[in-house]
Amino acid sequence: MKNVPIANCDLQASEISLGCMRIWELTNPEISTLINTALDGGINFFDHADIYGGGQSEAKFAEALDLTPQLRDKMILQSKCGIRKGAFDFSKEHILNAVDGILTRLRTDTLDVLLLHRPDALVEPEEVAEAFTILQDSGKVKYFGVSNQNPMQIELLKKFVKQPIIFNQLQFSITNTGMIDAGINVNMEIDPSIDRDGSILDYCRLNDITIQPWSPFQYGFFEGVFLDNDKFPELNQKIDEIAAAHGVTNTAIAIAWILRHPAHMQPIVGTTNPTRVKDICKASDITLSRQDWYEIYRAAGNKLP
Ligand SMILES: NC(=O)c1ccc[n+]([C@@H]2O[C@H](COP(=O)([O-])OP(=O)(O)OC[C@H]3O[C@@H](n4cnc5c(N)ncnc54)[C@H](OP(=O)(O)O)[C@@H]3O)[C@@H](O)[C@H]2O)c1
Repeated sequence: MKNVPIANCDLQASEISLGCMRIWELTNPEISTLINTALDGGINFFDHADIYGGGQSEAKFAEALDLTPQLRDKMILQSKCGIRKGAFDFSKEHILNAVDGILTRLRTDTLDVLLLHRPDALVEPEEVAEAFTILQDSGKVKYFGVSNQNPMQIELLKKFVKQPIIFNQLQFSITNTGMIDAGINVNMEIDPSIDRDGSILDYCRLNDITIQPWSPFQYGFFEGVFLDNDKFPELNQKIDEIAAAHGVTNTAIAIAWILRHPAHMQPIVGTTNPTRVKDICKASDITLSRQDWYEIYRAAGNKLP
């Protein structure tokens, strides 16, 4: 597993991260095996959110691993806040309370990265700035980022927030390529030409914000996995063909396709299966050719102009 420097901070992170959204349903021994398999495969970055399993994902993660300081030091722990029942909340009070809850559940004094989970229509960036400064000065959070935000929302934060925004977590997979489609189909009278995100991909590259693609195996909004799925025959045939040529599983190719993009994205995989974690780690050793990358893109049903 390649370790890469993350821009605008001193983090040296595995280029693939393990998302912990689904682990709350596992037993403690299962969580321990999953996380240790990831660590053995070179994954040192773990993504959480205060809402995953209503807080259980974070709590069970620390409990199952019996998180000692030695083990904690081998990990980069990221969590997110800002989603509440029926509302989004980026108020200073909520951010500060949320982080205290995260630190307690994760049994740690410091969170490496805090992301704002989903844009709050009522955001007051001055309050976010105050919260971030308090969290950084107190040593509770080292670095900050956002999730599901467009360029102007980040610009608004940046007007007040002093700390660099190092990550933006966005949905992206072979079957969710909105971030790429609009750039390929500029100024055309077809749907893929529609820019739904304010050119977030180019904005992040210009501003050295690392994109963390979430749900890299899902199609739609959690509709299911596209691999080995009869709904995507041409895509699976192409991925299987390329997987065979590289001697890896289709799972590895789905991640290698994301890693091939020169934006240096850090995909967040959500599998709870240790065998799949091992398969996924092999993606880090593969560099797809330009031809293979475009063939997969086209096999997903995308047309080039
Ligand atoms: N910022 C946001 O708004 C946001 C939103 C959603 C998620 N996230 C983050 O992104 C992470 C990943 O999300 P996700 O879990 O939806 O993503 P995912 O990695 O696309 O999906 C994982 C799910 O797909 C299943 N799966 C079935 N076949 C698979 C295969 N061949 N390879 C891999 N997985 C397969 C897994 O089952 P098994 O467990 O049985 O392998 C698991 O249930 C989350 O844990 C979370 O940290 C962030």
